[in-house]
Parts: sequence; C-alpha cells; structure tokens
Amino acid sequence: MDLDGLDKNRLPQHVAIIMDGNGRWAQQRGKSRIEGHRRGKTSVRVIVEFSRKIGIRFLSLYAFSTENWLRPHDEVHALMGLLEHYLIAEQPKMMRYGIRLLSVGDRDRLPLGVRRTLEDVISLTRENNRMTVILALSYSGKDEIVRMTKKLACDVRDGKCAPEDIDEEMIAAHMDTPEVPEPDLLIRTSGEMRVSNFYLWQIAYSELYVTPTLWPDFREQEYLQALMEYQRRRRRFGRTDEQLVASMPSSVEAGGSKS
Ligand code: IPE
Ligand code: IPE
Ligand code: MG
Repeated sequence: MDLDGLDKNRLPQHVAIIMDGNGRWAQQRGKSRIEGHRRGKTSVRVIVEFSRKIGIRFLSLYAFSTENWLRPHDEVHALMGLLEHYLIAEQPKMMRYGIRLLSVGDRDRLPLGVRRTLEDVISLTRENNRMTVILALSYSGKDEIVRMTKKLACDVRDGKCAPEDIDEEMIAAHMDTPEVPEPDLLIRTSGEMRVSNFYLWQIAYSELYVTPTLWPDFREQEYLQALMEYQRRRRRFGRTDEQLVASMPSSVEAGGSKS
C-alpha cells in the first residue's frame, strides 16, 4: 500500500463512518441482503486494522441505527448475529493491537446475548490505548440528545447543577462518550447525501466526505483517498483564511484543531 501521499502528521484524530450500501452491493450480484452485510463485516475488519496501522486515534462506525429496528425481522436478527460473531472473533486481535472498544447508543434495546458480549469486550479492552473503536449500535443522534437531556434534567433536579450552569462543555460531558473528541472527518459510503441521524451534536465542524462506493467495496485504497482529500481541506472554524495564516499557519490545512 502506497502511503506516500499521506502526511502522517496531519491525520484526522477521529474518523467517523456511515457504513452504507450493503443491500445494494448484494442486490447487484443477485445475492441476499444478508450476504451484503456479511461482506460488509470484512470491510469493517480491514478499515479497523488499517486505521490502527496508520495511527488514527478514534474510529466511529455507524453499524445499526435506531431506525434500522424497523427493518424486516430476519434482517435485524442476522445483523445482530453478525455483530455478536464479529465481537467474539475480533476480541483477541483487539487485545493484540491495543484497541479499546466503546459503544454509543441504547444498549438496552440490544438482544441480551449481544449486549453481554459487547459489555465483555468493552470491559476487557478498557486499558488498551493504541486506538479506540466506537461502535454505534441502536444509535441515533436525536436519541442520544434525548438521553443526554434526561441526565442533565436529573442533575438539576438533584441540585448537582443549576440551569444557568449549562453550557456546551456540560452537554458534551453528558453524551454517551464524553472522553471522545468530535470527529474531524465524516465518511459516508454509497453516495447518499444525508447523515441519517448519526452524530448530530458531534459533527458540527466535521469535514464531510461522500463516496459512491458501496461499503463492502470500501477498502484501504478508498479510505486513503478520503484521508488525502481531508488533508486538502481548509478548516477555518468560522474565521478567515487571512486570520488563520497570520495566527497559526500550520493549522490552516486539515489536521489543525479548533482550540
Ligand atoms: C448498511 O447497508 C448497513 C446497515 C444499515 C445496517 P444497508 O443495508 O443500508 O444497504 P443499502 O442502503 O440497502 O444498500
Ligand atoms: C444509515 O444507513 C445507518 C447505518 C449505516 C447503520 P441507512 O441505510 O439506515 O440510512 P437511510 O435509511 O438510507 O437514510
Ligand atoms: Mg442503507
């Protein structure tokens, strides 16, 4: 793999991916949608390993949305089975590679076996520090905001804080993964120009990258292209180019941070 075009010093700290297009991949080949999801699982493995190899610190993967519960029962069942198998199969590799697993979403809605396996792997990998993989499961951005609001309301009720204390920092601290920085780059496969209720609060200033490639075909080369495109972007965070060049030349191109 030729990594020459990639500047290792200006990698996004956090990449988030909406892994879409498994069904269409299967349909184009006359296979079942489930076959597409199975193939998509291989892309997950490849992208996780490649991310760790090049030094991405945080990788979020949108695997199952709150809205996906509305799919046919057989498909939901198969997806949950694939998820459980993935967790069991990848756990030794996560330990070997120093990968910590986290999840976002409403774990209570997951089948008990999946939930237990997920919690076991999260617990087992909690000290790993090379890279963090965040699986979004039974997740929607609006649902996370609702759950965050409930937590804050309880804190106010219990006298832990006053309404006028609430600020952006406090909101971020009550989200599912307060320790994770906001995504620098949001990738969506399969060409749809929407965020489908993924991270809403967190993507306020993420760079967006949409590729027509379907998720089962998204591998190292495609990923590299997304990362190189990211490095060509100018992240202004509301300011002008002139201001950025004058104050901190190195942060004009992507890779610079907000603070
Ligand atoms: C993404 O692929 C996987 C999940 C949403 C679980 P899809 O299953 O949405 O594939 P398309 O969009 O129908 O092609
Ligand atoms: C988004 O894909 C959710 C995941 C990738 C898990 P969908 O296929 O569910 O999105 P829509 O319904 O086309 O917006
Ligand atoms: Mg889809």
